[in-house]
Amino acid sequence: MPRLPENPPTMKRRHLLTQLGRGAAALALGSLFTPGQGRVRIERLPGADDPFTLGVASGMPGPDRVLLWTRLAPQPMAPLGGLPDAAVAVRWELAQDEAFSKGLRRGEVLAQPAHAHSVHVSVDGLPSDRRFFYRFHAGAASSPIGRTRTAPAVDAPVSRLRLALASCQHYEQGAFALHQEIAQQDLDLVLFVGDYIYESSNPRYRLRAHEGPKPTDLDGYRRRHATYKLDPALRAAHAAHPWLLTWDDHEVENDYAGGVSPTEGLGVEGFLALRTAAYKAYFEHMPVSPEMAPVGPAMQIHGHHRWGRLADLWTLDNRQYRSVQACNEPGRAGGRVMTQCDELGDPARSVLGPAQERWLGEALATSPRGWRLLAQGSQISSSGIDTPAGRSFFSDGWDGYPAARARLMQAIAAQPQGDVVCLGGDVHRHVAARLRADPADPRTAVVASEFVCSSLTSRGLPETMVSLMRGSNPDLLHARGDERGYALIDLTPERLDCTFRATRFPVEAQAQIHTQARYAVERGTAGPQAA
Ligand SMILES: [Fe+2]
Repeated sequence: MPRLPENPPTMKRRHLLTQLGRGAAALALGSLFTPGQGRVRIERLPGADDPFTLGVASGMPGPDRVLLWTRLAPQPMAPLGGLPDAAVAVRWELAQDEAFSKGLRRGEVLAQPAHAHSVHVSVDGLPSDRRFFYRFHAGAASSPIGRTRTAPAVDAPVSRLRLALASCQHYEQGAFALHQEIAQQDLDLVLFVGDYIYESSNPRYRLRAHEGPKPTDLDGYRRRHATYKLDPALRAAHAAHPWLLTWDDHEVENDYAGGVSPTEGLGVEGFLALRTAAYKAYFEHMPVSPEMAPVGPAMQIHGHHRWGRLADLWTLDNRQYRSVQACNEPGRAGGRVMTQCDELGDPARSVLGPAQERWLGEALATSPRGWRLLAQGSQISSSGIDTPAGRSFFSDGWDGYPAARARLMQAIAAQPQGDVVCLGGDVHRHVAARLRADPADPRTAVVASEFVCSSLTSRGLPETMVSLMRGSNPDLLHARGDERGYALIDLTPERLDCTFRATRFPVEAQAQIHTQARYAVERGTAGPQAA
């Protein structure tokens, strides 16, 4: 890595200070500044420690912009990453070549202690459909170089979109070998659909340990995110491609629903305080736009992205606005396996919440693009199991919200001019499925396709259970929970290909990875076909 020149000598620095004023001097010197009582204290970034331990990332590629992220944390497990409670100047550079000579853009921002010295730089005015390199400097230190890209212009004819669909990366349950492969793939973006961190542990499957106990406050969630980002394979996958993200439950707490926690006695007020801390730490560690910074316990993560004339892509939020799971004790969230529940049919119950449902319905109805990708945190198709006592299902999934699922399918069926493909995660198994106009009536038309990626590391259900699911659901064309994996999605104007990459051995950093299955969707024909 090229290093920046040393800071100017003291006399020159003083001169610069008077010339540039407080803020500008701090930026120009790349040093640490603390506004004091009428005085300005300028220091070098303390110690020889690398402030870029958590790597670099980019995200949300638009036709003229991309978002660059890093967080300064020379000691990631210390409060504020080992930095003082003061703003730090960070310089960024973005160019079309790795030598940073062609089309160079650069700027300076202050990494604020209020955001754990994370920076979210939205670089706009860029040419569309172009690849870029980027890096950061703070003090005398330089970050690794990241690669990113802009999306094609919204009206451009586009021949391909290639993405990796991934989710569920329990740090304790495996090495991130699949991220190693994702980093090496030729991709336009990584689409991560939830369970980026896990707040909880399962001692039975612990191959390596989270740093610290289950998070209960902002510091705890910051340490948990730092634990994940310290994994070199995850950092490599971030540095190699721009990411688009949505979340599921474990970014806060298993099976939470809106403002309701599964933890007994926590109450709405207590849980919203936890959600405030968790969302804030999430924002601080993700390559998302600065406008997405949470306000209290609220952060809008759902959004609409376009890939030229080829595809619309909506990222959906399954957690923040959902109704509590059915037939639970009052004031308590949590998923359960159940067969009977009168509340199930209540049309007021929702996964996305009324506002997001309306927004998505309107967007689907007016989209001019042939491919419409819905990315969300779980499996929409049913995985219920027929038993002598009735159909058994897990109440936290879409099976527990049948009226909401029916409304989503109606919205999809009402726009027959496009091909809808739902992309999900959460269930720790690769799934290819047909989605019908009325999910409860197998005689109704297939209106969309679904691909769900297996987990990157988190344990799946035993094959005995998954085979019962397949037997009870003819629309599940593929379902395997015995291997960890991610899905490669290749989109062209005529066809979508889904390749399920998988490994039996996520415990090994160098695990063998193979193709478990391939499916395709032809434009104009809803439903996956084995390929
Ligand atoms: Fe998960």
